[in-house]
Amino acid sequence: MRQKIVAGNWKMNKDFEDAEVLLDDIYNAQLKYKGDVQVIVCPPTLYLELATDYANDEEMDEAPFGVGAQNVSEYVKGAYTGEISAQMLASMGITHCIVGHSERRKYFGETDKIIAEKINLLLSYSMQPIYCCGEVLEEREAGKHIEVVAKQIQSALFHLTPEEFSNIIIAYEPVWAIGTGKNATPEQAQEMHDIIRKLILEKYGNEVANDTSILYGGSCNAKNARELFAMPDVDGGLIGGASLIAEDFLKIRDSFVD
Ligand code: 13P
Repeated sequence: MRQKIVAGNWKMNKDFEDAEVLLDDIYNAQLKYKGDVQVIVCPPTLYLELATDYANDEEMDEAPFGVGAQNVSEYVKGAYTGEISAQMLASMGITHCIVGHSERRKYFGETDKIIAEKINLLLSYSMQPIYCCGEVLEEREAGKHIEVVAKQIQSALFHLTPEEFSNIIIAYEPVWAIGTGKNATPEQAQEMHDIIRKLILEKYGNEVANDTSILYGGSCNAKNARELFAMPDVDGGLIGGASLIAEDFLKIRDSFVD
């Protein structure tokens, strides 16, 4: 079944004390939550253990939220100073990992080939990749956005078997909308999500396509989430700035129209 998801990508923000406050607020809200939206928090690597301590609360039948890393190494293990492996993340109880974020593509030279390696490793340790794709402004203005996103999806994901692919969460994040305060309109988001779902349908069939959660990211906030999430192919959001304030993040969680 297709899952509604709101995931927070904290990026490189918060010191330890502030991270604890934010996690505590989200945890307490999730304790009382009765809805069907899956919440995932993706704090900086250093705070993942703190997040899994909250998530693995034994008093709850189900984890109050999923915990996602923001990055993973493309290498298995060994002499890669500073890197964190998929095995390490899995051994810490991490459930998700963001891959292919435009900031990693831009500042850290990540290619679709590297991203595909990361995805393979995550899947081999039963973690769910949150795969980000999206065009830059020039590509949209040149009318190439569909071509660009289709290529990103195909080259990073379409080597997977249907069983493997069914663990993928997709986040469409137009680069021009990230951190700019200028979100895609609901129609622009819907158009791309529909195209992505059709690509999945052609490759993997109706059931996989129907069950894949496709999130929107890029200046999604407590004010605009409702109209974005009202679109039939928008299954939630990958939230940057607004995920740093518990109240806003939780409002976004509650922005689905039944
Ligand atoms: P903003 O919500 O800050 O635009 O960031 C979106 C994003 O990049 C989430 O991964």
